[in-house]
Amino acid sequence: MTTSEKTVCVAAPAKVNLTLHLTARRDDGYHILESLVVFAGILDRITLEPADTFSLVIEGPQAHNLDALNPVDNIALRAARRMAALAGRKDGVRVVLEKNIPVSAGIGGGSADAAAVLHGLIRLWSFYPTKAALHELALGLGADVPVCLQGRSTIMEGIGDILHEAPPLPGFWLVLANPGVEVSTPLVFRAHAGDFLPPIRLTDTPRSAEDMAVQLRKGRNDLTAAAISLEPVIGECLALLTALPSCLLARMSGSGATCWALFSTEYEARTAAKALRTAKPAWWVAAAPALHTVDPFGLADSPVSFTGI
Ligand code: C5P
Repeated sequence: MTTSEKTVCVAAPAKVNLTLHLTARRDDGYHILESLVVFAGILDRITLEPADTFSLVIEGPQAHNLDALNPVDNIALRAARRMAALAGRKDGVRVVLEKNIPVSAGIGGGSADAAAVLHGLIRLWSFYPTKAALHELALGLGADVPVCLQGRSTIMEGIGDILHEAPPLPGFWLVLANPGVEVSTPLVFRAHAGDFLPPIRLTDTPRSAEDMAVQLRKGRNDLTAAAISLEPVIGECLALLTALPSCLLARMSGSGATCWALFSTEYEARTAAKALRTAKPAWWVAAAPALHTVDPFGLADSPVSFTGI
């Protein structure tokens, strides 16, 4: 078998926090949270090739935002090294990362990349760690990596380490908008000054996107005020998304700055995304379907238009 025949290609879809409730702060500074997480059809792609050493090539429309960072520190490469250590392997892997998801944007780009590398190496190396060992490795890479590894609509608790399957959710579309500012997750968590409030869970299984929006409206993203205090343009982003025709609800994802707007149909979402792009040509705007179950290998062959960019 040649090297190219052994290449593995994996999709890394963006994660979106539909709610993000902070309920306490631990002594080590991490926060206990409750969050309804879904995935969206906007993907990074990871290609893995057998190699003697570890290396990373970053390409794609968002690659320039990672250029300044040390590639050795990239979470995708860290995931590969730790997986090799767990597998007791002496060789490395060449990682090619097609970066479509904005960096430091609250939609889990780095976490999704790390999870995709773990999925890919399981296949490339035919190495099957125990579920517990894989979970621990993922959590050690970052609090959002376990949910990205899980790859389905999830209620996330603890610091991100306790995962429950979400109730059945309807199909819907999202417009994701990033106003072009990178925000530091630790700084946003640190700026959270509010009291801790109880989480608001979906009480009934939503039958439609409209029904889901009604229920989600009762929920919160508790990092919103903190993120806006650091980057006021996030407030403008939320206001513009909310005002888009057919938008059912708009909120921030994760620690920002990306915000989402919820739509019933692809047509409504694509029309709204076009209008927002016209109004804010410098912003990153994507229309994407919610993915309730992610097939990281099947999705890797999706047409580029599926990414919605
Ligand atoms: O785990 P990860 O490296 O992704 O977390 C980045 C930062 O986000 C942490 O250093 C911490 O400041 C904050 N965080 C938190 N509580 C969480 C997850 C992240 O305070 N549950």
